[in-house]
Amino acid sequence: MKSKLKIFFIASEVAPFAQTGGLADVAGALPKYLKNMGHDIRVMMPNYKVINERKYTLRDVIRLQDLELKIGSKIFYANGKSAFLPDSKVQIYFLDNKYYFDREGLYCDSKTGLDYKDNAERYILFSKGCIETLKLLHWQPDIIHCNEWQTALIPLYLKSTYKEDAFFKNTKTLLSVHNIAYQGIFDPSVIQKACLHDSIFYSDSPIEFDGKFNFLKAGLEYADLLTTVSETYAEEIQNSSEYGCGLERVIKRRKDNIFGIINGIDDEIWNPEKDRLIPFQYNRRNLSGKIENKKELLKRFNIEFNENIPLIGTVSRLVDQKGFDLIGTILEDLMQMKLQFIILGLGDQKYSKLFQTFHQKYPHKVGFKLGFDNQLAHLIEAGSDMYLMPSRYEPCGLNQLYSLYYGTVPIVRETGGLADTIENFDRNTAAGTGFVFKKYNANELLKVIKKALKIYNKKDIWNKIMQNGMKQDFSWKL
Ligand code: GLC
Repeated sequence: MKSKLKIFFIASEVAPFAQTGGLADVAGALPKYLKNMGHDIRVMMPNYKVINERKYTLRDVIRLQDLELKIGSKIFYANGKSAFLPDSKVQIYFLDNKYYFDREGLYCDSKTGLDYKDNAERYILFSKGCIETLKLLHWQPDIIHCNEWQTALIPLYLKSTYKEDAFFKNTKTLLSVHNIAYQGIFDPSVIQKACLHDSIFYSDSPIEFDGKFNFLKAGLEYADLLTTVSETYAEEIQNSSEYGCGLERVIKRRKDNIFGIINGIDDEIWNPEKDRLIPFQYNRRNLSGKIENKKELLKRFNIEFNENIPLIGTVSRLVDQKGFDLIGTILEDLMQMKLQFIILGLGDQKYSKLFQTFHQKYPHKVGFKLGFDNQLAHLIEAGSDMYLMPSRYEPCGLNQLYSLYYGTVPIVRETGGLADTIENFDRNTAAGTGFVFKKYNANELLKVIKKALKIYNKKDIWNKIMQNGMKQDFSWKL
């Protein structure tokens, strides 16, 4: 294998340009570290309306004007723009097409909360646009690194439409699965829109699942190599339908080609010593800034500071996956305990209503902000004493890793990446970095929180757990 590779990294969201979840963090970080290792890596994403072209200095690329891209028999025109990932030399291209991408949301209409009806077409256009961009740039990558269902048709295109194209004869495809629950499932009529041949759609064909055209399945079948974001999740998704969401057999068939690699974090951005988004920087040897951040955070939510009352923080998409039903079940019990709770998130209404109600009922204990707010997310990581993440499943999870770096002790369920990164604290050996429970059950969660609260009062032990966590290294650096 060549030691220096040419890699084209494609994702539907990349931080800091546009983000709904952890995928964007990974897409904004990993390429920088690969570049520093000497690889020639470029990134591509759609040019959404939310992207601030001025702030990030997006420029038109002369070679990438008026790309002709077909959706069914209709021709659409797109342009390529480019910029750099902040504080790096990594070039990123943006596929610009007003009709499909000049909208408020990334994947769904915030007014209705529903996915855009033409998401299939939008990501067909994007996938084709990425392939055509390479040809116009005359840049032949060794690897096209696809992520999630939005880019999962690319391996299929390379093995069908572009099969005889000499341009791609040395290009291999890699597909990373960040969350197998999101598959891109569409009506079979989309096959024609994708300009693919009907003959590849039949019962259990590489693109068919349950009578539908399944984009992720196509990627899982056609990509040369697969990865997912932790070792435990790689096992879970091949061994149970609950985790594999129907695609477990497909994964199992490819078990020799799938690798679980735990995500790293961008330790330039998520580092309490350098973090420019928090008011007080601190490190393992001097934690006084952490207390100041806690005061600041509580002030923003009008909650009184008391050094003996632990503050639990959560930053999350408000969806079932993250274990909010368990939290809902025990929230009233938690309110009877000596603790404070701050939540930042966006998602299902049932959960935003739940937290709003509790905030109104217990304004001095519960702080809730509905939305996506990067700066506040940093302050919550820095100012909280504990971080709650009782996920039903968690492919990797990044916030528990940020929490370790910020001395914020994670309380997590033993699944996926949480199982691989957080070690349950053991009083006998004083080893461990957090509090872990196994069974997805509200009682178990309540028990583990009670345990954490008890230990919080023993300052020397608590300090040891914080130190254990802050000594960990989960950056992408080798
Ligand atoms: C998805 C997963 C999360 C993972 C992230 C980045 O958001 O749900 O567990 O950390 O992708 O890979």
